[in-house]
Amino acid sequence: MTQDEMKRKVAEAALEYVVKGSIVGVGTGSTANMFIDALATMKDDIRGTVASSEATAKRLAGHGIPVLDLNDALKQVASLSVYIDGADEFDTGKNLTKGGGGALTREKIVAAASDKFICIVDETKRVKHLGAFPLPIEVIPMARELVMGIAAGLGGKPVVREGFITDNGNIIIDVHGLVITDARALEDSLNSVPGVVTNGIFSHQGADVVLMGTPNGVETIH
Ligand code: 5RP
Repeated sequence: MTQDEMKRKVAEAALEYVVKGSIVGVGTGSTANMFIDALATMKDDIRGTVASSEATAKRLAGHGIPVLDLNDALKQVASLSVYIDGADEFDTGKNLTKGGGGALTREKIVAAASDKFICIVDETKRVKHLGAFPLPIEVIPMARELVMGIAAGLGGKPVVREGFITDNGNIIIDVHGLVITDARALEDSLNSVPGVVTNGIFSHQGADVVLMGTPNGVETIH
């Protein structure tokens, strides 16, 4: 089974977690795109969606799936029923690295506004410790050199993502070579640096359930 086939299987399996009549948070990336295509088959059963990026909003709208602004949605309901998204890595504690697609900040916001985070990945994303995938940090442009210096001081190799501006008008610094043994502590400490909008460690907003595609089918990790 190819990686794309495993992604498609988990994307389809995630439909089971979609609560009928509710507003669903939708992630960003190739696996999330497959979920959007699957969600189109039950678009009349949900009240609407909140998108974690402009790209996701466009794909949802292309299927005729209603997309709500998060603030408008939270005036109608106390929280979104579920957030469904991929990840670049997940560890044994269901902490995630996200932001390969650069949508980490909106992804973290929508995840925080949701009752449950269902993470859809293929088995290549499983790691013992986060850090094999370069850690993305969304940074206000003025703080670029400040954050690069702090990331280098942590033992990483920070690289500005070339030609990329986030949906929020900021830059991404990808930090290579970190071995992250305490995901929560690093998430908190990087987020306390002035100019950091957020970083791609999802420990506070880790997955509640990981659906992992393998050549033998979909494994559910609680
Ligand atoms: C985007 C993300 C994605 O979830 C992550 O990059 C995984 O993407 P894919 O499903 O294409 O492997 O965090 O910002």
